[in-house]
Amino acid sequence: MSRVEKTERLSKLPPYLFKELDRKREEVRSRGIDVIDFGVGDPDLPTPVHIVKRLCEAAHDPATHRYPAYSGMRLFNEAVARWYDGRFGVQLNAKSEVVTLIGSKEGIAHTPLAFVNPGDVVLVPDPAYPVYKIATFFAGGEPVYMPLLDRNGFLPDLGAIPSDAAKRAKLMFLNYPNNPTAATATLEFFDEVVSFAKDYDLIVCHDNAYSEMCFDGYVAPSFLQAEGAKKVGIEFHSLSKTYNMTGWRLGFAVGLQDAISALGTIKSNIDSGAFDAIQYAGIAALDGSQSCVDEMRTIYRERRDILVAGLREAGLRIEPPKATFYLWIKTPEGLGSSEFSTFLLEKAGVVTTPGNGFGPSGEGFVRMALCVNKERSLEAVERLKSLKFAA
Ligand SMILES: Cc1ncc(COP(=O)(O)O)c(C=O)c1O
Repeated sequence: MSRVEKTERLSKLPPYLFKELDRKREEVRSRGIDVIDFGVGDPDLPTPVHIVKRLCEAAHDPATHRYPAYSGMRLFNEAVARWYDGRFGVQLNAKSEVVTLIGSKEGIAHTPLAFVNPGDVVLVPDPAYPVYKIATFFAGGEPVYMPLLDRNGFLPDLGAIPSDAAKRAKLMFLNYPNNPTAATATLEFFDEVVSFAKDYDLIVCHDNAYSEMCFDGYVAPSFLQAEGAKKVGIEFHSLSKTYNMTGWRLGFAVGLQDAISALGTIKSNIDSGAFDAIQYAGIAALDGSQSCVDEMRTIYRERRDILVAGLREAGLRIEPPKATFYLWIKTPEGLGSSEFSTFLLEKAGVVTTPGNGFGPSGEGFVRMALCVNKERSLEAVERLKSLKFAA
């Protein structure tokens, strides 16, 4: 055991949410209980064949075996710009307004290092994907939480942000379609965010990892579609969920030129970019037919409908989400998030994520990720129905 003490930033960290969940799940499994895992949002479906094929071809080309370009391969960044134009009607300069990421988590985690000095404030949604808060801590910043409440459609109330915190804020993280609440945002909301960012001179970091996972005719907007957004913010994107590529580690950030360039500078001092062969596969994903994405939407919608119907039959309160592959379920009267999650695991062998693990305002909810096939989802529904709750 070394006598070198760990840094404060490390000792201050809560256990990573999914580590704790893994431990509980394995403990129940070791008792011989058949566990159905709706815990982590990691697609169970394979990466589409044409993307895998392109990786294999590119990996055989020795030109891809050298260090990649720091900010991404020119051809990949151009494919990103084309995709943005086609999907959102947003024009980007591939040279100065796009940076390739080794997954969007990497870019999110590095962004505060570019803008946050010790003591600076970062506005962080609560509940949220934990990396916004943790990256803020790592940069020595102070997260100030914006509660996402049911009564506000899980959007932050910008008017309720204390003005002294807003004045000290360098960044604001947002994420719609939202993990974990599955809420969506309108362009009108993004317009309000742009004017807030201008008033307080802060950079908006919008995480759009779930933009393609939409149902029932809903199409999620880009933050950059809002008037003036490109002057105040950046948007993170990921190929992980859209093309079942979580293990590949490929994403990108786009928008405000100064911010993209600052993030690129941080990255060039820490990592050396994504493997070129993976970027070629990424081009095949973005430029190719999007029918694979349609097929996945159909599969997730079917799972959503099975689970929503089953959860309602079990007496739980849940609205079918328009986007993301998450269900955000109100716990039964009198049960907290952790208690309810443990109860479902113990009594039904069903893994959910306690909402309070995403922040204090997630208390009273659990999250289920639709990453379990139809047969097993039906099996989970049978088990849940037999429990009968009073919501
Ligand atoms: C909201 C959100 N953003 C970003 C990520 C990270 O995605 P990746 O690093 O695979 O691009 C996730 C992963 O679950 C997420 O839920």
